[in-house]
Amino acid sequence: MIPFVNLTAQREAYRKELEMAEKRVLDSGCYIGGPEVQALEKELSTYCGALHTVSCGSGTQALELALMVLGLEPGDQVIVPDFTFIAPAECVQKLGGVPVFADIDPRTLQISPESAKKLIGPKTRGIIAVNLFGQCAPYGVLRNIADQHGLWILEDSAQAFGATQNGKKACTFGDISITSFYPTKPLGCYGDGGAIFTDNPEYAEKARLLANHGSRERYRHIEIGTNGRLDALQAAVLRVKLQHLDEELERRRQNAKVYDQVFAGLPGFTPQAIDAGNTSTYAQYTLLVENRAEFIRRLDKAEIPYCIHYPSPLHTQPCFCAGHAEPTTDASCPVTEKVCTQAISLPFCAFTDVQKIVERI
Ligand SMILES: Cc1ncc(COP(=O)(O)O)c(C=O)c1O
Repeated sequence: MIPFVNLTAQREAYRKELEMAEKRVLDSGCYIGGPEVQALEKELSTYCGALHTVSCGSGTQALELALMVLGLEPGDQVIVPDFTFIAPAECVQKLGGVPVFADIDPRTLQISPESAKKLIGPKTRGIIAVNLFGQCAPYGVLRNIADQHGLWILEDSAQAFGATQNGKKACTFGDISITSFYPTKPLGCYGDGGAIFTDNPEYAEKARLLANHGSRERYRHIEIGTNGRLDALQAAVLRVKLQHLDEELERRRQNAKVYDQVFAGLPGFTPQAIDAGNTSTYAQYTLLVENRAEFIRRLDKAEIPYCIHYPSPLHTQPCFCAGHAEPTTDASCPVTEKVCTQAISLPFCAFTDVQKIVERI
Protein backbone atom coordinates (compact mmCIF):
# COMPACT_ATOMS: atom_id res chain seq x y z
CA MET A 1 0.00 0.00 0.00
CA ILE A 2 1.29 3.47 -0.86
CA PRO A 3 1.64 5.53 2.36
CA PHE A 4 -0.35 8.78 2.53
CA VAL A 5 2.79 10.51 3.89
CA ASN A 6 6.05 8.57 3.66
CA LEU A 7 7.76 9.40 6.95
CA THR A 8 9.85 6.23 6.95
CA ALA A 9 11.46 7.14 3.59
CA GLN A 10 12.28 10.56 5.03
CA ARG A 11 13.86 9.00 8.12
CA GLU A 12 15.88 6.66 5.93
CA ALA A 13 17.18 9.62 3.88
CA TYR A 14 18.49 11.50 6.94
CA ARG A 15 19.08 8.51 9.23
CA LYS A 16 22.74 9.26 10.04
CA GLU A 17 22.15 12.93 10.85
CA LEU A 18 19.02 12.15 12.86
CA GLU A 19 20.65 9.41 14.89
CA MET A 20 23.61 11.65 15.70
CA ALA A 21 21.29 14.45 16.82
CA GLU A 22 19.10 12.09 18.86
CA LYS A 23 22.14 10.54 20.55
CA ARG A 24 23.54 13.99 21.33
CA VAL A 25 20.39 14.83 23.29
CA LEU A 26 19.97 11.43 24.96
CA ASP A 27 23.58 11.50 26.14
CA SER A 28 23.41 15.12 27.31
CA GLY A 29 21.07 14.60 30.28
CA CYS A 30 19.20 17.78 29.20
CA TYR A 31 15.78 16.80 27.87
CA ILE A 32 13.61 19.88 28.31
CA GLY A 33 14.69 23.34 27.09
CA GLY A 34 18.43 23.94 27.04
CA PRO A 35 20.80 24.47 24.12
CA GLU A 36 18.95 22.39 21.49
CA VAL A 37 15.71 24.29 22.00
CA GLN A 38 17.48 27.66 22.09
CA ALA A 39 19.40 26.84 18.91
CA LEU A 40 16.22 25.69 17.15
CA GLU A 41 14.39 28.91 18.05
CA LYS A 42 17.25 30.98 16.60
CA GLU A 43 17.36 28.90 13.44
CA LEU A 44 13.59 29.13 12.94
CA SER A 45 13.76 32.92 13.33
CA THR A 46 16.59 33.14 10.82
CA TYR A 47 14.72 30.90 8.38
CA CYS A 48 11.39 32.73 8.39
CA GLY A 49 12.51 36.24 9.29
CA ALA A 50 10.45 36.67 12.47
CA LEU A 51 12.35 38.54 15.19
CA HIS A 52 11.18 36.23 17.99
CA THR A 53 10.39 32.52 18.10
CA VAL A 54 8.97 30.80 21.17
CA SER A 55 8.71 27.03 20.85
CA CYS A 56 5.99 25.09 22.66
CA GLY A 57 4.22 21.75 22.94
CA SER A 58 1.97 21.74 19.83
CA GLY A 59 0.30 23.92 17.23
CA THR A 60 -2.89 23.90 19.28
CA GLN A 61 -1.00 25.07 22.34
CA ALA A 62 0.69 27.77 20.25
CA LEU A 63 -2.76 29.04 19.18
CA GLU A 64 -4.02 29.06 22.76
CA LEU A 65 -0.94 30.88 24.04
CA ALA A 66 -1.12 33.38 21.17
CA LEU A 67 -4.77 34.17 21.98
CA MET A 68 -3.82 34.66 25.65
CA VAL A 69 -0.98 36.98 24.59
CA LEU A 70 -3.44 38.96 22.46
CA GLY A 71 -5.61 39.36 25.57
CA LEU A 72 -8.71 37.48 24.40
CA GLU A 73 -11.48 37.90 26.96
CA PRO A 74 -14.73 35.97 27.48
CA GLY A 75 -17.35 37.12 24.97
CA ASP A 76 -14.81 38.49 22.49
CA GLN A 77 -15.55 37.45 18.93
CA VAL A 78 -12.86 36.14 16.62
CA ILE A 79 -13.38 35.53 12.91
CA VAL A 80 -12.12 32.11 11.83
CA PRO A 81 -12.44 30.25 8.52
CA ASP A 82 -15.27 27.71 8.38
CA PHE A 83 -13.16 25.32 6.29
CA THR A 84 -10.12 24.14 8.24
CA PHE A 85 -8.97 21.92 11.11
CA ILE A 86 -10.86 22.60 14.34
CA ALA A 87 -7.93 23.98 16.39
CA PRO A 88 -8.29 27.76 15.71
CA ALA A 89 -12.03 27.86 16.50
CA GLU A 90 -11.58 25.39 19.37
CA CYS A 91 -8.96 27.55 21.10
CA VAL A 92 -11.11 30.68 20.79
CA GLN A 93 -14.07 28.92 22.38
CA LYS A 94 -11.95 27.21 25.05
CA LEU A 95 -10.80 30.62 26.28
CA GLY A 96 -14.39 31.87 26.46
CA GLY A 97 -14.34 33.69 23.14
CA VAL A 98 -16.84 33.24 20.34
CA PRO A 99 -15.63 31.87 17.01
CA VAL A 100 -17.49 33.49 14.12
CA PHE A 101 -17.20 31.50 10.91
CA ALA A 102 -16.22 33.11 7.62
CA ASP A 103 -16.75 31.47 4.26
CA ILE A 104 -13.93 30.70 1.84
CA ASP A 105 -12.82 31.59 -1.66
CA PRO A 106 -13.99 28.81 -4.02
CA ARG A 107 -10.68 28.78 -5.95
CA THR A 108 -7.99 29.03 -3.29
CA LEU A 109 -10.16 27.58 -0.47
CA GLN A 110 -8.71 30.30 1.80
CA ILE A 111 -10.73 32.53 4.11
CA SER A 112 -12.75 35.01 2.02
CA PRO A 113 -11.92 38.59 3.06
CA GLU A 114 -15.36 39.73 1.82
CA SER A 115 -17.11 37.18 4.03
CA ALA A 116 -14.84 38.07 6.99
CA LYS A 117 -15.58 41.79 6.56
CA LYS A 118 -19.34 41.20 6.77
CA LEU A 119 -18.93 39.51 10.16
CA ILE A 120 -17.20 42.41 11.91
CA GLY A 121 -19.20 43.84 14.79
CA PRO A 122 -18.61 45.68 18.06
CA LYS A 123 -17.35 42.53 19.84
CA THR A 124 -14.92 41.47 17.09
CA ARG A 125 -11.31 41.52 18.29
CA GLY A 126 -9.38 39.77 15.56
CA ILE A 127 -9.11 37.40 12.63
CA ILE A 128 -7.40 34.01 12.63
CA ALA A 129 -6.13 33.51 9.09
CA VAL A 130 -5.20 29.91 8.26
CA ASN A 131 -2.60 29.19 5.59
CA LEU A 132 -4.68 26.32 4.29
CA PHE A 133 -2.94 23.28 2.80
CA GLY A 134 0.33 25.24 2.74
CA GLN A 135 -0.67 28.44 0.92
CA CYS A 136 -0.66 31.82 2.66
CA ALA A 137 -4.05 33.48 3.18
CA PRO A 138 -4.64 36.79 1.31
CA TYR A 139 -2.77 38.95 3.83
CA GLY A 140 -2.74 42.21 1.82
CA VAL A 141 -6.54 42.49 1.88
CA LEU A 142 -6.90 40.99 5.36
CA ARG A 143 -4.41 43.48 6.81
CA ASN A 144 -6.32 46.41 5.28
CA ILE A 145 -9.56 45.15 6.81
CA ALA A 146 -7.92 44.50 10.19
CA ASP A 147 -6.32 47.96 10.25
CA GLN A 148 -9.57 49.71 9.29
CA HIS A 149 -11.38 48.04 12.20
CA GLY A 150 -8.61 47.94 14.81
CA LEU A 151 -8.37 44.14 14.75
CA TRP A 152 -5.38 41.88 15.22
CA ILE A 153 -4.42 39.05 12.87
CA LEU A 154 -3.30 35.69 14.24
CA GLU A 155 -1.63 33.78 11.39
CA ASP A 156 -2.18 30.03 11.71
CA SER A 157 0.65 28.63 9.65
CA ALA A 158 0.43 25.11 11.10
CA GLN A 159 0.43 23.77 7.53
CA ALA A 160 2.72 26.29 5.89
CA PHE A 161 6.10 26.81 7.55
CA GLY A 162 8.33 27.64 4.56
CA ALA A 163 5.57 29.02 2.29
CA THR A 164 6.01 32.51 0.83
CA GLN A 165 3.85 35.42 -0.29
CA ASN A 166 5.45 38.07 -2.50
CA GLY A 167 8.86 36.88 -1.36
CA LYS A 168 8.07 37.09 2.36
CA LYS A 169 8.03 33.90 4.41
CA ALA A 170 4.99 32.52 6.25
CA CYS A 171 4.91 33.12 10.03
CA THR A 172 5.64 36.83 9.51
CA PHE A 173 2.17 38.03 8.41
CA GLY A 174 0.32 38.01 11.73
CA ASP A 175 0.65 40.33 14.68
CA ILE A 176 1.49 36.94 16.07
CA SER A 177 1.87 33.72 14.06
CA ILE A 178 2.07 30.04 14.88
CA THR A 179 3.10 26.76 13.36
CA SER A 180 2.80 23.05 14.17
CA PHE A 181 5.51 20.41 14.07
CA TYR A 182 3.05 17.47 14.04
CA PRO A 183 4.94 14.62 12.31
CA THR A 184 3.15 14.87 8.94
CA LYS A 185 3.50 18.65 8.65
CA PRO A 186 6.01 19.98 6.07
CA LEU A 187 8.43 20.53 8.98
CA GLY A 188 7.51 17.80 11.46
CA CYS A 189 9.12 16.23 14.51
CA TYR A 190 8.63 12.78 16.06
CA GLY A 191 5.85 13.72 18.44
CA ASP A 192 3.98 16.94 19.15
CA GLY A 193 5.56 20.36 18.84
CA GLY A 194 4.76 23.93 17.86
CA ALA A 195 6.05 27.48 17.84
CA ILE A 196 4.93 31.09 18.11
CA PHE A 197 6.48 33.86 16.00
CA THR A 198 6.28 37.63 16.37
CA ASP A 199 8.22 40.83 15.80
CA ASN A 200 6.68 42.32 18.94
CA PRO A 201 9.09 41.87 21.89
CA GLU A 202 6.28 42.27 24.46
CA TYR A 203 4.23 39.52 22.82
CA ALA A 204 7.29 37.25 22.72
CA GLU A 205 8.08 37.90 26.37
CA LYS A 206 4.45 37.22 27.37
CA ALA A 207 4.31 34.01 25.31
CA ARG A 208 7.49 32.76 26.99
CA LEU A 209 6.12 33.65 30.40
CA LEU A 210 2.78 31.91 29.83
CA ALA A 211 4.50 28.84 28.37
CA ASN A 212 6.49 28.54 31.61
CA HIS A 213 3.61 28.49 34.13
CA GLY A 214 3.55 32.30 34.23
CA SER A 215 6.96 32.31 35.81
CA ARG A 216 10.18 34.19 35.14
CA GLU A 217 11.79 33.41 38.46
CA ARG A 218 11.66 29.87 39.80
CA TYR A 219 8.55 29.22 41.95
CA ARG A 220 7.22 32.74 41.56
CA HIS A 221 4.18 32.82 39.28
CA ILE A 222 2.87 36.18 38.15
CA GLU A 223 0.27 34.86 35.68
CA ILE A 224 -1.73 31.68 35.16
CA GLY A 225 0.11 29.94 32.36
CA THR A 226 0.76 26.37 31.39
CA ASN A 227 3.44 23.79 30.66
CA GLY A 228 4.21 24.88 27.11
CA ARG A 229 7.54 23.21 26.53
CA LEU A 230 9.11 21.59 23.49
CA ASP A 231 11.32 18.57 24.25
CA ALA A 232 15.03 18.84 23.44
CA LEU A 233 14.75 15.59 21.45
CA GLN A 234 12.09 17.12 19.18
CA ALA A 235 14.18 20.26 18.80
CA ALA A 236 17.19 18.19 17.70
CA VAL A 237 15.09 16.32 15.13
CA LEU A 238 13.65 19.59 13.83
CA ARG A 239 17.11 21.12 13.49
CA VAL A 240 18.13 18.28 11.17
CA LYS A 241 14.93 18.46 9.13
CA LEU A 242 15.09 22.26 8.87
CA GLN A 243 18.37 21.92 6.98
CA HIS A 244 16.56 19.85 4.35
CA LEU A 245 13.34 21.87 4.28
CA ASP A 246 14.04 23.95 1.17
CA GLU A 247 15.08 20.97 -0.91
CA GLU A 248 11.99 19.07 0.31
CA LEU A 249 9.72 22.00 -0.52
CA GLU A 250 11.15 22.06 -4.03
CA ARG A 251 10.42 18.35 -4.44
CA ARG A 252 6.92 18.88 -3.10
CA ARG A 253 6.36 21.59 -5.72
CA GLN A 254 7.61 19.28 -8.47
CA ASN A 255 5.29 16.54 -7.23
CA ALA A 256 2.36 18.96 -7.18
CA LYS A 257 3.13 19.88 -10.80
CA VAL A 258 2.83 16.23 -11.82
CA TYR A 259 -0.62 15.99 -10.18
CA ASP A 260 -1.63 19.37 -11.64
CA GLN A 261 -0.72 18.25 -15.15
CA VAL A 262 -3.13 15.35 -14.81
CA PHE A 263 -6.01 16.95 -12.96
CA ALA A 264 -6.05 20.60 -14.01
CA GLY A 265 -7.27 19.71 -17.51
CA LEU A 266 -9.77 17.02 -16.50
CA PRO A 267 -13.45 18.01 -16.49
CA GLY A 268 -14.92 17.66 -13.01
CA PHE A 269 -11.51 17.98 -11.27
CA THR A 270 -10.19 21.27 -9.83
CA PRO A 271 -6.96 21.40 -7.81
CA GLN A 272 -6.69 24.11 -5.12
CA ALA A 273 -5.60 27.26 -6.98
CA ILE A 274 -2.32 28.83 -5.86
CA ASP A 275 -2.54 32.61 -6.23
CA ALA A 276 0.14 34.59 -8.11
CA GLY A 277 2.79 35.70 -5.61
CA ASN A 278 2.32 32.62 -3.41
CA THR A 279 4.45 29.50 -3.09
CA SER A 280 2.81 26.61 -1.23
CA THR A 281 4.34 23.98 1.01
CA TYR A 282 1.60 21.61 -0.21
CA ALA A 283 0.97 20.31 3.28
CA GLN A 284 -1.85 18.57 1.43
CA TYR A 285 -2.44 18.15 -2.27
CA THR A 286 -6.16 18.77 -2.30
CA LEU A 287 -8.55 18.95 -5.21
CA LEU A 288 -12.27 19.34 -5.70
CA VAL A 289 -13.95 16.48 -7.51
CA GLU A 290 -17.54 16.80 -8.72
CA ASN A 291 -18.21 13.07 -8.44
CA ARG A 292 -16.10 12.33 -5.38
CA ALA A 293 -17.79 8.99 -4.61
CA GLU A 294 -16.88 7.63 -8.05
CA PHE A 295 -13.29 8.91 -7.73
CA ILE A 296 -13.00 7.23 -4.31
CA ARG A 297 -14.15 3.92 -5.83
CA ARG A 298 -11.38 4.27 -8.40
CA LEU A 299 -8.76 5.10 -5.72
CA ASP A 300 -9.87 2.14 -3.60
CA LYS A 301 -9.59 -0.18 -6.58
CA ALA A 302 -6.08 1.12 -7.31
CA GLU A 303 -5.19 0.84 -3.58
CA ILE A 304 -4.36 4.52 -3.32
CA PRO A 305 -5.05 6.06 0.09
CA TYR A 306 -6.81 9.42 0.40
CA CYS A 307 -8.07 11.79 3.10
CA ILE A 308 -11.05 14.11 3.21
CA HIS A 309 -9.86 17.52 4.35
CA TYR A 310 -12.45 18.46 5.61
CA PRO A 311 -15.73 16.54 5.71
CA SER A 312 -17.90 19.21 7.36
CA PRO A 313 -18.02 22.96 7.89
CA LEU A 314 -16.84 23.90 11.37
CA HIS A 315 -20.04 25.82 12.09
CA THR A 316 -21.93 22.51 11.92
CA GLN A 317 -19.71 20.72 14.46
CA PRO A 318 -21.73 19.74 17.56
CA CYS A 319 -19.27 21.49 19.90
CA PHE A 320 -19.99 24.85 18.24
CA CYS A 321 -23.74 24.33 18.10
CA ALA A 322 -25.61 23.06 21.15
CA GLY A 323 -26.00 26.58 22.47
CA HIS A 324 -22.26 27.18 22.92
CA ALA A 325 -21.48 29.71 20.22
CA GLU A 326 -23.63 32.70 19.47
CA PRO A 327 -25.28 32.38 16.07
CA THR A 328 -23.20 34.13 13.46
CA THR A 329 -24.65 36.54 10.94
CA ASP A 330 -23.36 34.49 8.02
CA ALA A 331 -23.33 30.98 9.47
CA SER A 332 -24.48 29.25 6.31
CA CYS A 333 -21.11 29.59 4.48
CA PRO A 334 -22.39 28.12 1.17
CA VAL A 335 -18.96 27.77 -0.46
CA THR A 336 -17.61 25.77 2.48
CA GLU A 337 -20.68 23.57 2.45
CA LYS A 338 -20.18 22.69 -1.21
CA VAL A 339 -16.39 22.26 -0.91
CA CYS A 340 -16.86 19.79 1.97
CA THR A 341 -18.73 17.49 -0.44
CA GLN A 342 -15.99 17.68 -3.11
CA ALA A 343 -12.59 18.04 -1.41
CA ILE A 344 -10.19 15.11 -1.41
CA SER A 345 -6.44 14.93 -0.66
CA LEU A 346 -4.05 12.53 -2.38
CA PRO A 347 -0.87 10.94 -0.98
CA PHE A 348 1.77 13.59 -0.81
CA CYS A 349 5.20 14.46 0.54
CA ALA A 350 8.72 15.01 -0.81
CA PHE A 351 9.20 11.23 -0.94
CA THR A 352 5.92 10.28 -2.66
CA ASP A 353 6.20 8.56 -6.01
CA VAL A 354 3.53 10.72 -7.59
CA GLN A 355 4.18 9.36 -11.08
CA LYS A 356 3.34 5.84 -9.90
CA ILE A 357 0.10 7.06 -8.32
CA VAL A 358 -0.92 8.91 -11.46
CA GLU A 359 -0.26 5.82 -13.59
CA ARG A 360 -2.31 3.65 -11.23
CA ILE A 361 -5.24 6.06 -11.31
C1 LIG B 1 -4.66 24.70 10.52
C2 LIG B 1 -4.21 23.99 11.74
N1 LIG B 1 -4.10 24.68 12.89
C3 LIG B 1 -3.69 24.10 14.03
C4 LIG B 1 -3.35 22.76 14.06
C5 LIG B 1 -2.96 22.13 15.36
O1 LIG B 1 -1.65 21.67 15.38
P1 LIG B 1 -1.22 20.49 16.40
O2 LIG B 1 -1.73 19.21 15.85
O3 LIG B 1 0.28 20.56 16.41
O4 LIG B 1 -1.80 20.82 17.71
C6 LIG B 1 -3.43 22.00 12.89
C7 LIG B 1 -3.08 20.57 12.90
O5 LIG B 1 -3.39 19.81 12.02
C8 LIG B 1 -3.87 22.63 11.70
O6 LIG B 1 -3.96 21.96 10.55
